[in-house]
Amino acid sequence: MTAKTLGRNLEILEKYRKYADMAELRVDYLDPDERLLIRRFPELAGMPVILTIRRDSDGGLFVGGEGARISLMARGLAYAEADRRRNFAYLDIEEDLNVSSLEEAARTFGTRIIRSYHNIKGTDADLPVKIRSMRRSGDEIVKVAVMANSTRDVLELLCAGKECEGYEKVLVSMGHFGIYSRILSEQFGSLFSYCSALSESDAPPAAPGQIEIRELANLYRFRNITRATKIYGVTGYPLKATSSPSFFNTVFELEGSNAVYVPFPADSITDLIEISKELNVEGISVTVPYKEAIIPFLDFESDEVRVIGACNTLTSTPQGWLGTNTDARGFSDSLLTFLSKSNFKRQRVTVIGAGGAARSVVFELHRLGAKVLILNRTIHKARRLAAPYKFAWGGLDEQGIEKMEKYRDIIIQTTSAGMEGINPDNLSDDPVAMYNFCGREEVMDLVYKPKVTAFLKRASNAGCNILNGFDMLIRQARYQYTQFTGKEFPEHFLSRVQFGES
Ligand code: ATR
Repeated sequence: MTAKTLGRNLEILEKYRKYADMAELRVDYLDPDERLLIRRFPELAGMPVILTIRRDSDGGLFVGGEGARISLMARGLAYAEADRRRNFAYLDIEEDLNVSSLEEAARTFGTRIIRSYHNIKGTDADLPVKIRSMRRSGDEIVKVAVMANSTRDVLELLCAGKECEGYEKVLVSMGHFGIYSRILSEQFGSLFSYCSALSESDAPPAAPGQIEIRELANLYRFRNITRATKIYGVTGYPLKATSSPSFFNTVFELEGSNAVYVPFPADSITDLIEISKELNVEGISVTVPYKEAIIPFLDFESDEVRVIGACNTLTSTPQGWLGTNTDARGFSDSLLTFLSKSNFKRQRVTVIGAGGAARSVVFELHRLGAKVLILNRTIHKARRLAAPYKFAWGGLDEQGIEKMEKYRDIIIQTTSAGMEGINPDNLSDDPVAMYNFCGREEVMDLVYKPKVTAFLKRASNAGCNILNGFDMLIRQARYQYTQFTGKEFPEHFLSRVQFGES
């Protein structure tokens, strides 16, 4: 609870009551006058409350001296009530704070101590030692919240938790890299997870990386996660916005699966693989920039992965990691359905781009009988991609564009030009601005944000049929579901599954 007044905190608590099992009152966020009135908060809250007054050096807002802070804690514990529900259920005391009278009072009144350690800059090297040495008596809960600046930092915390099995504790990797430590808290050995009412503008997150409470409860179904829950996820970097958790978690919920799908942002694929083993992850969707980098970690792979050289689906099997590529089938299913065709025989197709996405597209076009021209800004990459298939190639220049005259039944745009979030000027990018559509081309852009790129708009204005990459995204995810679970995708749920925008 990080609002400025107790009244506002109670309002917020009421609104989110059904998602929370307990509340943490962050006294350091309260206005100074309000801080004097905290004693009645547990009774008004009607659920177990943690009393926390965090110093600025530990990531909190309290800037007064230690004396003032201790007095406030004492005020929160004063006049213990016989009915324990009227007392704070927990008191957060930092591991370096030594005030035995306070601890004594807490124990007498049935208030449990959370012995906490924060490092807002990084993750300490000796975490297991730290965890063991922090606890001063058996009834304390140890809380360690350390900033993860890398995937390795999260791995350190996860392993420390395993080493200290049996201790009552809460371990948090703060920041974006550690987001899944807040969802898989059971697996990290934590008693509970802290989250916040982020959608209330006056209730800021109390620590970097905190998840919105409804998202934790509804999307990730936090309360259902146990050691038996199957874990899936998506990895990439920076992985700031991904709609895959929404897709998979909704399906898991609708079919009643004990499974969860989480974001695994990773700056090192090596460390992420280690974490996946520690967490017994069943399957991982692999996205930019790791579709090629993941290949050395595969124990075996599908033909598509071998030929295309890119893998977007990692599945744990008794024989190790299996790598598959569902982008390729997702693409051809989507385009063939759009064209009402079963293959690309007699179709003359231009592919714009020669990167990872283009490789999947060209593989499928070849498999299904198309004649293809590949055009790329960097011409030698077009030549290299075309060579094994004996396809035509060229640059995104006048000569290349001229070649398109003979390959224009279908035109497929695979580059990131025109994609939202690449750079501010990018939206107007049209990689074949020199090409004049005749209006009979079938035109596909793999980009789906925005729904209509500058390239698709021009094609549509000329009278062409256009298709963006959204349908392909869903289709590749359905194949991924099958790969992960061994089951057919439950098509009847599709209309209820959200995948970002449609
Ligand atoms: P992806 O996996 O998304 O295909 P990639 O492998 O990095 O990503 O490939 C990016 C592709 O988009 C390349 O074909 C790239 O052209 P270059 O090989 O010349 O770099 C192409 N690309 C990216 N931005 C582009 C732009 N503004 N105009 C034209 N091509 C662009």
